[in-house]
Amino acid sequence: MIKRLIAYFKNYKFYAILCPVLMLFEVLGDVMMPLLMAQIINRVSPDKAFTNEDIYYVLKMGGVMVIVALAAMFCGAFSSYLASKASMGAGAELREDLFTKIQTFSFSNIDYFSVPSLITRMTTDVNNLQQTGMMCLRMLVRSPFMFIFALIMALSIHTELACIFLVAIPILAIAIILIMKTVHPRFMSFHEKIDDLNTSVQENLTNIRVVKSFVREKHEKEKFKKANDRLTSTGINAIKIVIMNMPIMQLVMYVCILAIVLFGGRLVVDTTLGRVVAEAGLEPGDLLSFITYVSQILMSLMMLSMLFLQFTRARASGQRVLEVLDTEVDIKDPENPIAEVPDGTIDFENVAFRYKSGNIEDTLSDINLHIESGETIGIIGSTGSAKTTLVQLIPRLYDVTKGSVKVGGHDVREYGLETLHDSVAMVLQKNTLFSGTVRDNMKWGNPDATDEEIINACKQAQAWDFISKKPEGLDGEVSQGGANFSGGQKQRLCIARALLKKPKIIILDDSTSAVDTATDAKIREAFDAELKGITTIIIAQRINSISHADRIVVMDDGKIVDVGTHEELMKTSKIYNEVYTSQQEGVISE
Ligand SMILES: Nc1ncnc2c1ncn2[C@@H]1O[C@H](COP(=O)(O)OP(=O)(O)OP(=O)(O)O)[C@@H](O)[C@H]1O
Ligand SMILES: [Mg+2]
Repeated sequence: MIKRLIAYFKNYKFYAILCPVLMLFEVLGDVMMPLLMAQIINRVSPDKAFTNEDIYYVLKMGGVMVIVALAAMFCGAFSSYLASKASMGAGAELREDLFTKIQTFSFSNIDYFSVPSLITRMTTDVNNLQQTGMMCLRMLVRSPFMFIFALIMALSIHTELACIFLVAIPILAIAIILIMKTVHPRFMSFHEKIDDLNTSVQENLTNIRVVKSFVREKHEKEKFKKANDRLTSTGINAIKIVIMNMPIMQLVMYVCILAIVLFGGRLVVDTTLGRVVAEAGLEPGDLLSFITYVSQILMSLMMLSMLFLQFTRARASGQRVLEVLDTEVDIKDPENPIAEVPDGTIDFENVAFRYKSGNIEDTLSDINLHIESGETIGIIGSTGSAKTTLVQLIPRLYDVTKGSVKVGGHDVREYGLETLHDSVAMVLQKNTLFSGTVRDNMKWGNPDATDEEIINACKQAQAWDFISKKPEGLDGEVSQGGANFSGGQKQRLCIARALLKKPKIIILDDSTSAVDTATDAKIREAFDAELKGITTIIIAQRINSISHADRIVVMDDGKIVDVGTHEELMKTSKIYNEVYTSQQEGVISE
Protein backbone atom coordinates (compact mmCIF):
# COMPACT_ATOMS: atom_id res chain seq x y z
CA MET A 1 0.00 0.00 0.00
CA ILE A 2 2.73 2.43 1.01
CA LYS A 3 4.61 1.75 -2.19
CA ARG A 4 1.59 2.49 -4.33
CA LEU A 5 0.82 5.69 -2.50
CA ILE A 6 4.41 6.88 -2.56
CA ALA A 7 4.36 6.44 -6.34
CA TYR A 8 2.17 9.54 -6.45
CA PHE A 9 5.19 11.62 -5.42
CA LYS A 10 6.91 10.65 -8.65
CA ASN A 11 6.34 14.02 -10.28
CA TYR A 12 7.45 15.83 -7.14
CA LYS A 13 10.71 13.99 -6.59
CA PHE A 14 12.71 17.21 -6.55
CA TYR A 15 10.65 18.74 -3.74
CA ALA A 16 10.45 15.46 -1.90
CA ILE A 17 14.24 15.16 -1.84
CA LEU A 18 15.14 18.79 -1.24
CA CYS A 19 12.73 19.07 1.66
CA PRO A 20 14.43 16.51 3.93
CA VAL A 21 17.86 17.93 3.02
CA LEU A 22 16.80 21.37 4.19
CA MET A 23 15.27 19.77 7.24
CA LEU A 24 18.67 18.31 8.01
CA PHE A 25 20.19 21.79 8.12
CA GLU A 26 17.46 22.92 10.45
CA VAL A 27 18.24 20.03 12.77
CA LEU A 28 21.94 20.87 12.69
CA GLY A 29 21.10 24.43 13.70
CA ASP A 30 18.85 23.24 16.50
CA VAL A 31 21.52 20.91 17.82
CA MET A 32 24.22 23.57 17.70
CA MET A 33 22.29 26.03 19.81
CA PRO A 34 22.73 24.37 23.24
CA LEU A 35 26.41 23.87 22.44
CA LEU A 36 26.91 27.57 21.78
CA MET A 37 24.98 28.46 24.88
CA ALA A 38 27.10 26.13 26.99
CA GLN A 39 30.20 27.94 25.74
CA ILE A 40 28.83 31.25 27.00
CA ILE A 41 27.80 29.89 30.38
CA ASN A 42 31.04 28.02 30.94
CA ARG A 43 32.99 31.20 30.22
CA VAL A 44 31.27 32.95 33.11
CA SER A 45 32.28 31.31 36.32
CA PRO A 46 31.73 32.51 39.90
CA ASP A 47 35.40 31.88 40.56
CA LYS A 48 36.61 34.33 37.98
CA ALA A 49 36.17 38.05 37.54
CA PHE A 50 34.34 39.36 34.48
CA THR A 51 36.69 40.91 31.90
CA ASN A 52 36.10 42.99 28.75
CA GLU A 53 37.29 40.04 26.78
CA ASP A 54 34.51 37.94 28.30
CA ILE A 55 31.91 40.49 27.23
CA TYR A 56 33.29 40.48 23.72
CA TYR A 57 33.19 36.68 23.70
CA VAL A 58 29.59 36.58 24.91
CA LEU A 59 28.53 39.09 22.25
CA LYS A 60 30.37 37.20 19.55
CA MET A 61 28.81 33.89 20.49
CA GLY A 62 25.42 35.56 20.82
CA GLY A 63 25.81 36.85 17.27
CA VAL A 64 26.66 33.38 16.00
CA MET A 65 23.59 32.04 17.79
CA VAL A 66 21.34 34.57 16.07
CA ILE A 67 22.76 33.71 12.65
CA VAL A 68 22.39 29.96 13.25
CA ALA A 69 18.84 30.46 14.50
CA LEU A 70 17.89 32.53 11.44
CA ALA A 71 19.44 30.03 9.03
CA ALA A 72 17.68 27.14 10.75
CA MET A 73 14.41 29.03 10.62
CA PHE A 74 14.77 29.71 6.92
CA CYS A 75 15.62 26.07 6.17
CA GLY A 76 12.70 24.88 8.27
CA ALA A 77 10.18 27.22 6.66
CA PHE A 78 11.32 26.56 3.13
CA SER A 79 11.33 22.83 3.68
CA SER A 80 7.76 22.99 5.03
CA TYR A 81 6.78 24.90 1.91
CA LEU A 82 8.31 22.22 -0.30
CA ALA A 83 6.67 19.48 1.74
CA SER A 84 3.23 20.99 1.29
CA LYS A 85 3.82 21.58 -2.40
CA ALA A 86 4.82 17.96 -2.95
CA SER A 87 2.02 16.44 -0.88
CA MET A 88 -0.67 18.73 -2.29
CA GLY A 89 0.42 17.82 -5.80
CA ALA A 90 0.53 14.12 -5.05
CA GLY A 91 -2.88 14.35 -3.37
CA ALA A 92 -4.34 16.10 -6.40
CA GLU A 93 -3.11 13.32 -8.67
CA LEU A 94 -4.54 10.68 -6.37
CA ARG A 95 -7.90 12.46 -6.37
CA GLU A 96 -7.81 12.67 -10.13
CA ASP A 97 -7.12 8.93 -10.41
CA LEU A 98 -10.01 8.22 -8.08
CA PHE A 99 -12.31 10.43 -10.11
CA THR A 100 -11.27 8.80 -13.38
CA LYS A 101 -11.80 5.36 -11.88
CA ILE A 102 -15.24 6.25 -10.53
CA GLN A 103 -16.25 7.46 -13.99
CA THR A 104 -15.74 3.90 -15.25
CA PHE A 105 -17.88 2.42 -12.48
CA SER A 106 -21.03 0.56 -13.38
CA PHE A 107 -24.31 1.16 -11.59
CA SER A 108 -23.72 -1.86 -9.39
CA ASN A 109 -20.20 -0.67 -8.47
CA ILE A 110 -21.76 2.59 -7.35
CA ASP A 111 -24.53 0.73 -5.49
CA TYR A 112 -21.78 -1.14 -3.63
CA PHE A 113 -19.87 1.90 -2.39
CA SER A 114 -22.75 4.41 -2.20
CA VAL A 115 -22.24 7.93 -3.44
CA PRO A 116 -21.55 9.64 -0.07
CA SER A 117 -18.87 7.10 0.74
CA LEU A 118 -17.18 7.77 -2.58
CA ILE A 119 -17.28 11.49 -1.80
CA THR A 120 -15.71 10.95 1.63
CA ARG A 121 -13.02 8.79 0.12
CA MET A 122 -12.18 11.45 -2.44
CA THR A 123 -12.13 14.28 0.09
CA THR A 124 -11.53 13.40 3.74
CA ASP A 125 -9.47 10.29 3.08
CA VAL A 126 -7.29 11.89 0.43
CA ASN A 127 -6.79 14.93 2.69
CA ASN A 128 -5.70 12.60 5.41
CA LEU A 129 -3.14 10.96 3.18
CA GLN A 130 -1.98 14.35 1.97
CA GLN A 131 -1.42 15.50 5.51
CA THR A 132 0.45 12.32 6.34
CA GLY A 133 2.64 12.78 3.29
CA MET A 134 3.49 16.28 4.42
CA MET A 135 4.22 15.16 7.97
CA CYS A 136 6.40 12.34 6.69
CA LEU A 137 8.47 14.59 4.52
CA ARG A 138 9.13 16.88 7.43
CA MET A 139 9.18 14.65 10.49
CA LEU A 140 10.41 11.35 9.16
CA VAL A 141 13.81 12.94 8.53
CA ARG A 142 13.79 15.57 11.19
CA SER A 143 12.94 13.41 14.17
CA PRO A 144 15.43 10.56 13.68
CA PHE A 145 18.26 12.99 12.89
CA MET A 146 17.41 15.19 15.80
CA PHE A 147 17.33 12.08 17.96
CA ILE A 148 20.70 10.81 16.74
CA PHE A 149 22.50 14.17 16.82
CA ALA A 150 21.17 15.09 20.22
CA LEU A 151 22.03 11.64 21.56
CA ILE A 152 25.59 11.91 20.25
CA MET A 153 25.96 15.35 21.81
CA ALA A 154 24.56 14.13 25.10
CA LEU A 155 26.87 11.11 25.08
CA SER A 156 29.86 13.30 24.32
CA ILE A 157 29.05 15.56 27.24
CA HIS A 158 28.68 12.80 29.78
CA THR A 159 28.36 9.15 28.89
CA GLU A 160 27.21 7.81 32.23
CA LEU A 161 24.56 10.46 32.62
CA ALA A 162 23.24 9.56 29.16
CA CYS A 163 22.51 6.04 30.40
CA ILE A 164 19.28 7.40 31.79
CA PHE A 165 17.92 7.01 28.24
CA LEU A 166 18.49 3.30 28.37
CA VAL A 167 15.60 3.18 30.79
CA ALA A 168 13.44 5.86 29.25
CA ILE A 169 13.42 4.86 25.57
CA PRO A 170 12.10 1.28 25.93
CA ILE A 171 9.28 2.52 28.16
CA LEU A 172 8.31 5.02 25.50
CA ALA A 173 8.50 2.49 22.68
CA ILE A 174 6.19 0.07 24.47
CA ALA A 175 3.72 2.86 25.18
CA ILE A 176 3.65 3.96 21.53
CA ILE A 177 3.14 0.42 20.21
CA LEU A 178 0.27 -0.18 22.62
CA ILE A 179 -1.41 3.08 21.65
CA MET A 180 -1.10 2.39 17.93
CA LYS A 181 -2.50 -1.10 18.24
CA THR A 182 -5.57 0.13 20.07
CA VAL A 183 -6.18 3.13 17.92
CA HIS A 184 -6.20 1.63 14.40
CA PRO A 185 -9.57 -0.16 14.55
CA ARG A 186 -11.06 2.88 16.21
CA PHE A 187 -9.98 5.12 13.35
CA MET A 188 -11.36 2.62 10.84
CA SER A 189 -14.79 2.83 12.41
CA PHE A 190 -14.44 6.61 12.73
CA HIS A 191 -14.15 6.85 8.94
CA GLU A 192 -17.21 4.66 8.46
CA LYS A 193 -19.14 7.05 10.67
CA ILE A 194 -18.02 9.96 8.51
CA ASP A 195 -19.57 8.07 5.57
CA ASP A 196 -22.82 7.74 7.49
CA LEU A 197 -22.86 11.43 8.30
CA ASN A 198 -22.21 12.36 4.68
CA THR A 199 -25.01 10.05 3.58
CA SER A 200 -27.38 11.85 5.87
CA VAL A 201 -26.23 15.29 4.71
CA GLN A 202 -26.19 14.44 1.03
CA GLU A 203 -29.60 12.82 1.08
CA ASN A 204 -31.07 15.74 2.93
CA LEU A 205 -29.53 18.45 0.78
CA THR A 206 -30.27 16.89 -2.60
CA ASN A 207 -33.87 16.33 -1.54
CA ILE A 208 -34.33 19.45 0.52
CA ARG A 209 -37.53 20.34 -1.36
CA VAL A 210 -39.11 17.01 -0.55
CA VAL A 211 -38.00 17.30 3.05
CA LYS A 212 -39.62 20.70 3.35
CA SER A 213 -42.83 19.79 1.58
CA PHE A 214 -43.35 16.81 3.86
CA VAL A 215 -42.42 18.93 6.89
CA ARG A 216 -39.78 16.35 7.72
CA GLU A 217 -37.19 18.83 8.98
CA LYS A 218 -37.51 17.62 12.55
CA HIS A 219 -37.16 13.99 11.59
CA GLU A 220 -34.19 14.78 9.33
CA LYS A 221 -32.62 16.81 12.09
CA GLU A 222 -32.90 13.86 14.45
CA LYS A 223 -31.44 11.54 11.84
CA PHE A 224 -28.54 13.92 11.37
CA LYS A 225 -28.10 14.28 15.11
CA LYS A 226 -27.88 10.52 15.51
CA ALA A 227 -25.24 10.20 12.80
CA ASN A 228 -23.43 13.22 14.20
CA ASP A 229 -23.49 11.85 17.75
CA ARG A 230 -22.22 8.48 16.61
CA LEU A 231 -19.40 10.19 14.74
CA THR A 232 -18.57 12.27 17.79
CA SER A 233 -18.50 9.31 20.13
CA THR A 234 -16.34 7.15 17.84
CA GLY A 235 -14.10 10.18 17.34
CA ILE A 236 -13.77 10.65 21.09
CA ASN A 237 -13.20 6.93 21.45
CA ALA A 238 -10.19 7.14 19.14
CA ILE A 239 -8.87 10.47 20.39
CA LYS A 240 -9.14 9.26 24.00
CA ILE A 241 -6.30 6.86 23.26
CA VAL A 242 -4.35 9.28 21.11
CA ILE A 243 -4.22 11.92 23.81
CA MET A 244 -2.58 9.43 26.20
CA ASN A 245 0.48 9.82 24.03
CA MET A 246 1.30 13.35 25.14
CA PRO A 247 1.10 12.92 28.94
CA ILE A 248 3.08 9.67 28.83
CA MET A 249 5.78 11.39 26.82
CA GLN A 250 5.85 14.37 29.10
CA LEU A 251 5.92 12.27 32.21
CA VAL A 252 8.91 10.35 30.93
CA MET A 253 10.59 13.60 29.85
CA TYR A 254 10.20 15.28 33.22
CA VAL A 255 11.29 12.19 35.13
CA CYS A 256 14.39 12.12 32.92
CA ILE A 257 15.13 15.78 33.55
CA LEU A 258 14.64 15.29 37.27
CA ALA A 259 17.02 12.36 37.27
CA ILE A 260 19.59 14.35 35.34
CA VAL A 261 19.37 17.31 37.67
CA LEU A 262 19.69 14.96 40.61
CA PHE A 263 22.70 13.01 39.35
CA GLY A 264 24.22 15.72 37.18
CA GLY A 265 23.86 18.31 39.91
CA ARG A 266 26.17 16.29 42.13
CA LEU A 267 28.77 16.36 39.40
CA VAL A 268 28.63 20.13 39.12
CA VAL A 269 28.20 21.15 42.71
CA ASP A 270 30.57 19.99 45.37
CA THR A 271 28.17 19.16 48.20
CA THR A 272 30.77 19.55 50.93
CA LEU A 273 31.75 23.04 49.73
CA GLY A 274 28.19 23.90 48.68
CA ARG A 275 29.27 25.63 45.50
CA VAL A 276 30.03 25.01 41.88
CA VAL A 277 33.31 23.30 41.19
CA ALA A 278 34.49 22.73 37.68
CA GLU A 279 36.84 19.92 38.71
CA ALA A 280 33.95 17.56 39.55
CA GLY A 281 33.75 16.57 35.89
CA LEU A 282 30.86 18.58 34.52
CA GLU A 283 30.66 22.30 33.95
CA PRO A 284 27.37 24.08 34.69
CA GLY A 285 26.96 25.14 31.06
CA ASP A 286 27.39 21.53 30.00
CA LEU A 287 24.73 20.38 32.41
CA LEU A 288 22.37 22.99 31.02
CA SER A 289 22.99 21.96 27.42
CA PHE A 290 22.69 18.31 28.48
CA ILE A 291 19.20 19.05 29.75
CA THR A 292 18.37 20.80 26.47
CA TYR A 293 19.56 17.74 24.55
CA VAL A 294 17.43 15.53 26.72
CA SER A 295 14.37 17.53 25.84
CA GLN A 296 15.37 17.49 22.17
CA ILE A 297 15.73 13.72 22.24
CA LEU A 298 12.40 13.23 23.93
CA MET A 299 10.73 15.81 21.72
CA SER A 300 11.92 14.00 18.62
CA LEU A 301 10.56 10.76 20.04
CA MET A 302 7.28 12.51 20.73
CA MET A 303 7.16 13.74 17.13
CA LEU A 304 7.87 10.25 15.90
CA SER A 305 5.10 8.82 18.00
CA MET A 306 2.69 11.42 16.66
CA LEU A 307 3.80 10.50 13.18
CA PHE A 308 3.12 6.85 13.89
CA LEU A 309 -0.33 7.74 15.12
CA GLN A 310 -0.95 9.69 11.95
CA PHE A 311 0.21 6.58 10.10
CA THR A 312 -2.50 4.48 11.69
CA ARG A 313 -5.04 7.03 10.55
CA ALA A 314 -3.56 7.19 7.11
CA ARG A 315 -3.56 3.41 6.92
CA ALA A 316 -7.32 3.41 7.35
CA SER A 317 -7.65 6.10 4.69
CA GLY A 318 -5.19 4.41 2.37
CA GLN A 319 -7.15 1.16 2.53
CA ARG A 320 -10.36 2.98 1.71
CA VAL A 321 -8.83 4.85 -1.21
CA LEU A 322 -7.14 1.79 -2.68
CA GLU A 323 -10.36 -0.19 -2.33
CA VAL A 324 -11.87 2.20 -4.87
CA LEU A 325 -8.85 2.09 -7.18
CA ASP A 326 -8.73 -1.71 -7.00
CA THR A 327 -12.40 -2.29 -7.66
CA GLU A 328 -12.97 -4.53 -10.61
CA VAL A 329 -15.36 -2.67 -12.88
CA ASP A 330 -17.90 -5.35 -13.62
CA ILE A 331 -19.29 -3.86 -16.81
CA LYS A 332 -16.62 -3.12 -19.38
CA ASP A 333 -15.86 -3.44 -23.05
CA PRO A 334 -15.31 -6.96 -24.40
CA GLU A 335 -12.06 -8.00 -26.14
CA ASN A 336 -13.20 -7.46 -29.73
CA PRO A 337 -16.26 -5.27 -29.45
CA ILE A 338 -18.77 -5.09 -32.27
CA ALA A 339 -18.58 -1.53 -33.52
CA GLU A 340 -22.12 -1.07 -34.74
CA VAL A 341 -25.61 -1.95 -33.66
CA PRO A 342 -27.29 -3.24 -36.86
CA ASP A 343 -30.91 -2.54 -35.94
CA GLY A 344 -33.32 -2.02 -33.10
CA THR A 345 -34.48 -5.57 -32.40
CA ILE A 346 -34.36 -6.62 -28.78
CA ASP A 347 -34.44 -10.16 -27.40
CA PHE A 348 -34.69 -11.28 -23.81
CA GLU A 349 -33.83 -14.96 -23.59
CA ASN A 350 -34.51 -16.75 -20.29
CA VAL A 351 -33.35 -13.69 -18.41
CA ALA A 352 -33.07 -13.63 -14.65
CA PHE A 353 -31.57 -10.76 -12.69
CA ARG A 354 -30.67 -10.09 -9.10
CA TYR A 355 -29.23 -6.91 -7.58
CA LYS A 356 -25.95 -7.65 -5.85
CA SER A 357 -26.68 -5.45 -2.87
CA GLY A 358 -28.33 -7.67 -0.31
CA ASN A 359 -31.11 -9.25 -2.36
CA ILE A 360 -31.69 -12.95 -1.88
CA GLU A 361 -34.44 -13.33 -4.46
CA ASP A 362 -34.29 -12.69 -8.18
CA THR A 363 -35.74 -9.29 -9.05
CA LEU A 364 -36.49 -10.51 -12.57
CA SER A 365 -37.10 -14.11 -13.61
CA ASP A 366 -38.16 -16.12 -16.66
CA ILE A 367 -38.11 -13.17 -19.02
CA ASN A 368 -38.57 -14.11 -22.68
CA LEU A 369 -39.51 -11.36 -25.07
CA HIS A 370 -38.79 -10.53 -28.69
CA ILE A 371 -39.19 -6.95 -29.85
CA GLU A 372 -39.05 -6.11 -33.58
CA SER A 373 -37.01 -3.21 -34.84
CA GLY A 374 -39.24 -0.13 -35.06
CA GLU A 375 -41.90 -1.56 -32.79
CA THR A 376 -43.47 0.53 -30.05
CA ILE A 377 -43.78 -1.35 -26.78
CA GLY A 378 -45.62 -0.20 -23.71
CA ILE A 379 -44.77 -1.61 -20.29
CA ILE A 380 -47.17 -1.40 -17.40
CA GLY A 381 -47.20 -2.92 -13.94
CA SER A 382 -47.46 -1.99 -10.30
CA THR A 383 -44.60 -0.16 -8.62
CA GLY A 384 -41.77 -2.45 -7.75
CA SER A 385 -42.75 -4.95 -10.45
CA ALA A 386 -39.25 -4.49 -11.92
CA LYS A 387 -40.11 -2.47 -15.03
CA THR A 388 -37.09 -0.20 -14.60
CA THR A 389 -34.90 -3.18 -13.82
CA LEU A 390 -36.00 -4.86 -17.05
CA VAL A 391 -35.21 -1.95 -19.35
CA GLN A 392 -31.90 -1.16 -17.61
CA LEU A 393 -30.59 -4.43 -18.98
CA ILE A 394 -30.95 -3.21 -22.57
CA PRO A 395 -28.24 -0.50 -22.46
CA ARG A 396 -26.33 -2.83 -20.11
CA LEU A 397 -26.51 -0.60 -17.07
CA TYR A 398 -26.52 -3.91 -15.21
CA ASP A 399 -25.51 -7.34 -16.47
CA VAL A 400 -28.03 -10.18 -16.41
CA THR A 401 -27.57 -12.87 -13.78
CA LYS A 402 -28.85 -15.60 -16.10
CA GLY A 403 -29.80 -15.82 -19.78
CA SER A 404 -29.00 -13.09 -22.26
CA VAL A 405 -30.23 -9.79 -23.62
CA LYS A 406 -29.66 -9.22 -27.34
CA VAL A 407 -29.81 -5.99 -29.25
CA GLY A 408 -29.71 -6.11 -33.05
CA GLY A 409 -29.17 -9.87 -32.85
CA HIS A 410 -26.01 -9.71 -30.70
CA ASP A 411 -25.62 -10.15 -26.98
CA VAL A 412 -25.26 -6.69 -25.39
CA ARG A 413 -22.02 -7.91 -23.79
CA GLU A 414 -20.44 -8.17 -27.25
CA TYR A 415 -20.76 -4.45 -28.01
CA GLY A 416 -18.43 -1.69 -26.93
CA LEU A 417 -20.24 0.25 -24.21
CA GLU A 418 -20.02 3.49 -26.16
CA THR A 419 -21.50 1.89 -29.27
CA LEU A 420 -24.33 0.42 -27.24
CA HIS A 421 -25.07 3.63 -25.32
CA ASP A 422 -25.04 5.64 -28.53
CA SER A 423 -27.68 3.38 -30.03
CA VAL A 424 -29.83 2.92 -26.96
CA ALA A 425 -31.09 6.19 -25.50
CA MET A 426 -32.67 5.86 -22.13
CA VAL A 427 -34.56 8.58 -20.35
CA LEU A 428 -34.19 7.42 -16.77
CA GLN A 429 -37.01 7.59 -14.32
CA LYS A 430 -35.05 9.92 -12.09
CA ASN A 431 -33.43 11.95 -14.82
CA THR A 432 -31.51 15.05 -14.23
CA LEU A 433 -30.17 18.10 -16.01
CA PHE A 434 -26.81 19.67 -15.37
CA SER A 435 -25.94 23.26 -14.61
CA GLY A 436 -25.18 25.25 -17.76
CA THR A 437 -27.40 26.43 -20.60
CA VAL A 438 -30.23 24.55 -22.25
CA ARG A 439 -27.97 24.13 -25.29
CA ASP A 440 -25.17 22.61 -23.15
CA ASN A 441 -27.60 20.07 -21.80
CA MET A 442 -28.92 19.19 -25.23
CA LYS A 443 -25.39 18.64 -26.49
CA TRP A 444 -24.99 15.77 -24.05
CA GLY A 445 -27.14 13.89 -26.54
CA ASN A 446 -24.98 14.89 -29.49
CA PRO A 447 -21.99 17.22 -29.14
CA ASP A 448 -22.18 18.23 -32.81
CA ALA A 449 -25.90 19.01 -32.90
CA THR A 450 -26.77 22.24 -34.70
CA ASP A 451 -29.26 24.69 -33.24
CA GLU A 452 -31.74 23.57 -35.86
CA GLU A 453 -31.45 19.95 -34.79
CA ILE A 454 -31.76 20.93 -31.15
CA ILE A 455 -34.89 22.97 -31.84
CA ASN A 456 -36.35 20.12 -33.84
CA ALA A 457 -35.77 17.63 -31.02
CA CYS A 458 -37.26 20.10 -28.53
CA LYS A 459 -40.32 20.46 -30.72
CA GLN A 460 -40.81 16.67 -30.89
CA ALA A 461 -40.53 16.45 -27.12
CA GLN A 462 -42.97 19.39 -26.78
CA ALA A 463 -40.24 21.36 -25.02
CA TRP A 464 -39.85 24.14 -27.57
CA ASP A 465 -42.98 25.99 -26.40
CA PHE A 466 -41.58 26.92 -23.04
CA ILE A 467 -37.98 27.35 -24.19
CA SER A 468 -38.90 29.76 -26.97
CA LYS A 469 -40.92 31.80 -24.50
CA LYS A 470 -37.77 32.55 -22.53
CA PRO A 471 -35.89 35.61 -23.83
CA GLU A 472 -32.57 33.72 -23.86
CA GLY A 473 -34.01 30.70 -25.71
CA LEU A 474 -31.41 27.96 -25.96
CA ASP A 475 -29.00 30.09 -23.92
CA GLY A 476 -31.38 30.01 -20.95
CA GLU A 477 -29.66 28.99 -17.73
CA VAL A 478 -30.25 25.57 -16.22
CA SER A 479 -29.44 25.49 -12.52
CA GLN A 480 -27.98 22.48 -10.74
CA GLY A 481 -30.18 19.42 -11.29
CA GLY A 482 -32.50 21.56 -13.44
CA ALA A 483 -34.15 23.00 -10.35
CA ASN A 484 -35.36 26.08 -12.27
CA PHE A 485 -37.62 23.96 -14.49
CA SER A 486 -40.89 22.27 -13.57
CA GLY A 487 -41.00 18.48 -13.30
CA GLY A 488 -42.82 18.13 -16.62
CA GLN A 489 -40.51 20.60 -18.36
CA LYS A 490 -37.50 18.73 -17.09
CA GLN A 491 -38.89 15.46 -18.39
CA ARG A 492 -39.50 16.99 -21.81
CA LEU A 493 -35.96 18.39 -21.94
CA CYS A 494 -34.60 14.96 -21.05
CA ILE A 495 -36.63 13.38 -23.85
CA ALA A 496 -35.32 15.99 -26.31
CA ARG A 497 -31.78 15.27 -25.16
CA ALA A 498 -32.30 11.56 -25.76
CA LEU A 499 -33.83 12.18 -29.21
CA LEU A 500 -30.74 14.14 -30.26
CA LYS A 501 -28.72 10.97 -29.99
CA LYS A 502 -30.62 9.66 -33.03
CA PRO A 503 -30.73 6.26 -31.35
CA LYS A 504 -31.98 2.97 -32.77
CA ILE A 505 -33.80 2.24 -29.53
CA ILE A 506 -35.34 4.80 -27.22
CA ILE A 507 -36.55 3.93 -23.76
CA LEU A 508 -38.77 6.26 -21.78
CA ASP A 509 -39.00 5.15 -18.17
CA ASP A 510 -42.05 6.88 -16.79
CA SER A 511 -40.79 9.95 -18.58
CA THR A 512 -44.08 11.67 -19.06
CA SER A 513 -45.47 11.06 -15.58
CA ALA A 514 -45.30 14.77 -14.76
CA VAL A 515 -46.62 15.93 -18.13
CA ASP A 516 -50.31 16.77 -18.52
CA THR A 517 -52.43 14.36 -20.59
CA ALA A 518 -52.77 16.72 -23.55
CA THR A 519 -49.02 17.32 -23.85
CA ASP A 520 -48.40 13.62 -23.32
CA ALA A 521 -50.67 12.91 -26.29
CA LYS A 522 -48.81 15.48 -28.39
CA ILE A 523 -45.44 13.88 -27.55
CA ARG A 524 -46.92 10.54 -28.56
CA GLU A 525 -48.16 11.91 -31.88
CA ALA A 526 -44.76 13.45 -32.59
CA PHE A 527 -43.10 10.14 -31.76
CA ASP A 528 -45.43 8.24 -34.08
CA ALA A 529 -44.71 10.64 -36.90
CA GLU A 530 -40.98 11.22 -36.42
CA LEU A 531 -39.62 8.11 -34.82
CA LYS A 532 -40.51 5.66 -37.56
CA GLY A 533 -38.08 2.76 -37.56
CA ILE A 534 -36.87 3.50 -34.05
CA THR A 535 -37.74 0.90 -31.43
CA THR A 536 -39.59 2.71 -28.68
CA ILE A 537 -40.19 1.36 -25.21
CA ILE A 538 -42.47 3.37 -22.99
CA ILE A 539 -42.97 2.57 -19.34
CA ALA A 540 -46.00 4.31 -17.95
CA GLN A 541 -48.42 4.26 -15.08
CA ARG A 542 -51.28 5.64 -17.21
CA ILE A 543 -52.86 3.23 -19.67
CA ASN A 544 -53.59 6.22 -21.91
CA SER A 545 -49.87 6.77 -22.41
CA ILE A 546 -49.33 3.31 -23.88
CA SER A 547 -52.67 2.14 -25.26
CA HIS A 548 -51.56 3.14 -28.78
CA ALA A 549 -48.45 0.91 -28.61
CA ASP A 550 -48.00 -2.00 -31.02
CA ARG A 551 -47.80 -4.31 -28.04
CA ILE A 552 -48.13 -3.86 -24.31
CA VAL A 553 -46.18 -5.88 -21.76
CA VAL A 554 -47.84 -6.36 -18.38
CA MET A 555 -45.43 -7.00 -15.53
CA ASP A 556 -46.04 -8.32 -12.07
CA ASP A 557 -43.55 -9.20 -9.39
CA GLY A 558 -40.56 -9.47 -11.70
CA LYS A 559 -42.32 -11.52 -14.35
CA ILE A 560 -43.99 -10.81 -17.66
CA VAL A 561 -47.57 -11.91 -17.15
CA ASP A 562 -49.26 -10.79 -20.37
CA VAL A 563 -48.31 -9.41 -23.78
CA GLY A 564 -50.65 -8.07 -26.44
CA THR A 565 -52.37 -5.06 -27.95
CA HIS A 566 -54.66 -2.89 -25.87
CA GLU A 567 -57.72 -4.61 -27.29
CA GLU A 568 -56.33 -8.11 -26.75
CA LEU A 569 -55.31 -7.37 -23.20
CA MET A 570 -58.68 -5.86 -22.43
CA LYS A 571 -60.15 -9.23 -23.28
CA THR A 572 -57.56 -11.56 -21.79
CA SER A 573 -55.54 -9.87 -19.06
CA LYS A 574 -56.98 -9.71 -15.58
CA ILE A 575 -54.34 -7.29 -14.25
CA TYR A 576 -54.61 -5.01 -17.25
CA ASN A 577 -58.37 -4.88 -16.82
CA GLU A 578 -58.03 -4.04 -13.14
CA VAL A 579 -55.63 -1.20 -13.88
CA TYR A 580 -57.85 0.07 -16.67
CA THR A 581 -60.96 0.02 -14.52
CA SER A 582 -59.26 1.74 -11.61
CA GLN A 583 -57.98 4.49 -13.91
CA GLN A 584 -61.38 4.93 -15.55
CA GLU A 585 -62.95 5.28 -12.10
CA GLY A 586 -60.46 8.03 -11.42
CA VAL A 587 -61.51 9.81 -14.59
CA ILE A 588 -65.22 9.48 -13.86
CA SER A 589 -64.94 10.65 -10.26
CA GLU A 590 -62.87 13.64 -11.38
N1 LIG B 1 -30.15 -0.52 -7.13
C1 LIG B 1 -30.93 -1.45 -6.53
N2 LIG B 1 -30.39 -2.28 -5.62
C2 LIG B 1 -31.15 -3.22 -5.01
N3 LIG B 1 -32.45 -3.41 -5.25
C3 LIG B 1 -33.06 -2.61 -6.14
C4 LIG B 1 -32.32 -1.58 -6.83
N4 LIG B 1 -33.18 -0.94 -7.65
C5 LIG B 1 -34.38 -1.53 -7.48
N5 LIG B 1 -34.32 -2.55 -6.60
C6 LIG B 1 -35.42 -3.44 -6.21
O1 LIG B 1 -35.90 -4.11 -7.35
C7 LIG B 1 -37.30 -4.19 -7.38
C8 LIG B 1 -37.83 -3.66 -8.71
O2 LIG B 1 -37.53 -2.28 -8.81
P1 LIG B 1 -37.83 -1.43 -10.11
O3 LIG B 1 -37.24 -0.11 -9.92
O4 LIG B 1 -37.41 -2.20 -11.29
O5 LIG B 1 -39.42 -1.34 -10.08
P2 LIG B 1 -40.37 -0.54 -11.08
O6 LIG B 1 -41.32 -1.52 -11.63
O7 LIG B 1 -39.59 0.27 -12.01
O8 LIG B 1 -41.16 0.38 -10.05
P3 LIG B 1 -41.73 1.86 -10.32
O9 LIG B 1 -42.99 1.73 -11.06
O10 LIG B 1 -42.01 2.36 -8.93
O11 LIG B 1 -40.70 2.64 -11.01
C9 LIG B 1 -37.81 -3.40 -6.19
O12 LIG B 1 -38.27 -4.31 -5.22
C10 LIG B 1 -36.60 -2.66 -5.69
O13 LIG B 1 -36.60 -2.65 -4.29
MG1 LIG C 1 -39.29 2.24 -12.31
